[in-house]
Amino acid sequence: MSDCTIPVTEVLKDLQIPCSSFREVRGGEASSVYQVKSPDGEHYALRVLPEKHDRHFRYEQSIMKYVQDKGIPVPRVHQVKKWNQWAVMLMEWLPGNTMLQSLMKFPEKAFQLGMVFGKMQYNLHQIPPAHIGTQNWLTPETEEERKLFHQVRVKSGPSVILHLDYHPLNVMIDGHNVTGIIDWTNCSIGDRRFDIARTLSILRLEGSKLFEDNSVIQAFEEGYIQGYDQMDNLGDLSLFLAWAGFRMMRDLSGRKTADELMTINEWSHSWIREK
Ligand SMILES: Nc1ncnc2c1ncn2[C@@H]1O[C@H](COP(=O)(O)OP(=O)(O)OP(=O)(O)O)[C@@H](O)[C@H]1O
Ligand SMILES: [Mg+2]
Repeated sequence: MSDCTIPVTEVLKDLQIPCSSFREVRGGEASSVYQVKSPDGEHYALRVLPEKHDRHFRYEQSIMKYVQDKGIPVPRVHQVKKWNQWAVMLMEWLPGNTMLQSLMKFPEKAFQLGMVFGKMQYNLHQIPPAHIGTQNWLTPETEEERKLFHQVRVKSGPSVILHLDYHPLNVMIDGHNVTGIIDWTNCSIGDRRFDIARTLSILRLEGSKLFEDNSVIQAFEEGYIQGYDQMDNLGDLSLFLAWAGFRMMRDLSGRKTADELMTINEWSHSWIREK
């Protein structure tokens, strides 16, 4: 998102946050994210999106509060506000690095980091569903998604809270402790295998591109599977993985080349053939 027109200093003044410095954080594709330092040493994260996302920020805020009350680490949201043509969310700045930064810095710890990552998603999936509004990222829109949705619904498990963008840039870690899960934009409720398949699809289709040595992301995935208690007992994930690929195609259409989308499409079909 282009940030050149966002008057960060004015926004902060209006939020009554004294600022000694701020910097844009890399890594946010959907929104602009800034790290803000106040003179008393307090650090904040400021997320900015076009104003039509204001309701969505409020929705995220209520989910974050709900999961936080159940013991899941997430940043405390201080304020959500409409500001001219922007929607802004001011939250606590989490200590540590993204899981991806840690993985790149300590590739030899890929398996252990994966374990921590998997365990946290398992903990999230122990949370019973709340009434979380009308947004539903799971709602199928393409023919392929609809078909798979219908097929998996027959054997669906209980509904839990799903993050649906649980990947190494959205999990912050300090040493071996997760300091918070961020970016709750896609959060929905449903069978936990949707969330697991979504994470696996991101690790396999996107994560593998980030490392020259494929064994790093493979070790991370192995740790993830092991850390998520008894993932093996969830049965065959093929149809969920096929769904995740088709859903990713819809999510990324417009942001990927035709060839890249074709690769994802082929990946999805390979899971259907697997069945
Ligand atoms: N509260 C926070 N504390 C520390 N770092 C944060 C915080 N919020 C966001 N970040 C940093 O900013 C990056 C982007 O944030 P976020 O995922 O919320 O934005 P996004 O635009 O929705 O992302 P995406 O690229 O997934 O679309 C994160 O990967 C992280 O590095
Ligand atoms: Mg993100």
